[in-house]
Amino acid sequence: MRLVLLGPPGAGKGTQAKVLSQDLNIPHISTGDIFRDTVKENTPLGRELAGYMQKGVLVPDDIVNRAVFERLKKEDASGGFILDGYPRTKPQAAVFDEMLKKSGMSLDIVIYMETSKNIIVKRLTGRRICSKCGANYHITNIPPKKEGVCDACGGKLIQRDDDSEQTVLKRIKIYNEQTAGLIDYYQDKGLLCKVSGDLEVDKLNRVLNEFFVKEGLL
Ligand code: AP5
Repeated sequence: MRLVLLGPPGAGKGTQAKVLSQDLNIPHISTGDIFRDTVKENTPLGRELAGYMQKGVLVPDDIVNRAVFERLKKEDASGGFILDGYPRTKPQAAVFDEMLKKSGMSLDIVIYMETSKNIIVKRLTGRRICSKCGANYHITNIPPKKEGVCDACGGKLIQRDDDSEQTVLKRIKIYNEQTAGLIDYYQDKGLLCKVSGDLEVDKLNRVLNEFFVKEGLL
């Protein structure tokens, strides 16, 4: 199955993608994660990416498309994938469509996670990630067993550079300006399935599972 998760920052795309990836046995491909890994390498490209991401603005389309196409060439994506955070602009969606067509592939579904602004701000300003393994927590919604320490690997929990309130508000604005148009784009293609990103993690996961079972995809 080839699946795209579409939604504003903080909709819970990464959180749901991790569970779905296990349930559907296909890789979770997050452009944000790919770029954060590149930033850690401290190469010229990594430093360029850090500049965009820290400001909460989008990485240029050509860099993004190249990174995604490289990732999709890997063997584990041959049987399907969950894209989280891509495409994020209409030009990215158009180039992605072209790439799929050339490879004789098509998307099966785009899940749009509609989420309220106040919930987004609360989730992102309270998000903590493990500096070692990248596991995702929230100070009140999904707290670790021991404050500041990752349950999975014992790593130190940190706040993402782009999760300050000011940058979160900027990311929401950019989402509305540059990404939200993809809702109609995929609706017109008959691929869109809308769910509420406001739901709690488990409830939303149940809704998605029920949907996949109903569609015969799980
Ligand atoms: P990226 O990492 O993709 O950030 P984002 O899209 O802004 O999404 P987030 O990771 O913030 O949110 P999410 O929806 O995945 O929520 P999560 O599950 O983590 O991109 C970062 C940057 O990279 C961009 O700003 C841009 O610069 C660049 N970039 C990436 N892709 C690009 C592209 N295609 N084009 C151009 N530039 C690109 O959850 C958030 C928090 O809420 C967590 O704490 C979690 O524990 C909690 N939570 C999750 N779900 C729930 C729930 N249902 N109930 C309660 N709490 C929840």
